[in-house]
Amino acid sequence: MSIRPRTPAPATPAPGKLALPELAEMKRRGDKIVMVTAYDASSGRLADAAGIDLILVGDTAAMVVLGHESSTVPVTMDEMLFMTRAVTRGARRPLVVGDMPFGSYQVSDEDAVRNAIRFVKESGADVVKLEGAGPSLSRVRAIVGAGIGVMGHLGLTPQSATVLGGFKAQGRTAEQARRLLDDALALEGAGCFALVLEAVPAPVAERVTAELEIPTIGIGAGAGCDGQVLVWHDLLGLYDGRTPRFVKQYADLKAEIARALEAYAADVRSGAFPEERHTYAMPEEELAEFESEHVHGHRD
Ligand code: KIV
Repeated sequence: MSIRPRTPAPATPAPGKLALPELAEMKRRGDKIVMVTAYDASSGRLADAAGIDLILVGDTAAMVVLGHESSTVPVTMDEMLFMTRAVTRGARRPLVVGDMPFGSYQVSDEDAVRNAIRFVKESGADVVKLEGAGPSLSRVRAIVGAGIGVMGHLGLTPQSATVLGGFKAQGRTAEQARRLLDDALALEGAGCFALVLEAVPAPVAERVTAELEIPTIGIGAGAGCDGQVLVWHDLLGLYDGRTPRFVKQYADLKAEIARALEAYAADVRSGAFPEERHTYAMPEEELAEFESEHVHGHRD
């Protein structure tokens, strides 16, 4: 076990957890809601310290954390619970949203409720998110009926990317846009407290946002949404694969990490690391005794 002090808590103690009804208040006031994904305790802590409102432990973890190529489908409930548990240890004020992975709610309402309860009980998630309308409407009703808040997700729903014909923008015809609006109203009616709109034309997202009382959180859905979400690895320049056009990259951490790792490797190989200040001293008499015992031990 390494001797590593715990990362100190932020200087100002975090105020209490953001209350769920506050999100609807923010919409009414016109205050934008900020959501980001995160997958471990240190990111949860950093997002909290930066004043982020909502943290989504997204099933994008399948791609950005677990290395599955171009699909969110393979990530399991146990993997999602493991990551969500870590995030909730790091984040205090933000509401933590556990993203229900593919297979955890498609089969039945009972399954959906059981898995939503696992998110809350075993990982400390505050609420859950699931994708789609149609059969998802009764899942939302059932989970909300069990006392757990549900965030909906429409537009490009990555768990059904194959049937949508790939990772493509949705709602681009009048008919599709009308259906999207109907689905959004139905999800609100089923009890969702907020709705993610992914890869939807801005005017469509704006209209949906105006028609709903619950807040919309956009990703590739324009500035008319009540809030925005970006994936941690996209925002910080950590993802290796192709990023969608809607991503704004705020840092280039991949390059910074590569620079640091190369410098570390060079220092180890040249002997420049570790230095005296990176090691531990011991009293001289103890060292002398140890060295003499050591020598005798070998000679006897
Ligand atoms: O899983 C995820 O990260 C998401 C966001 C892209 C909204 O669903």
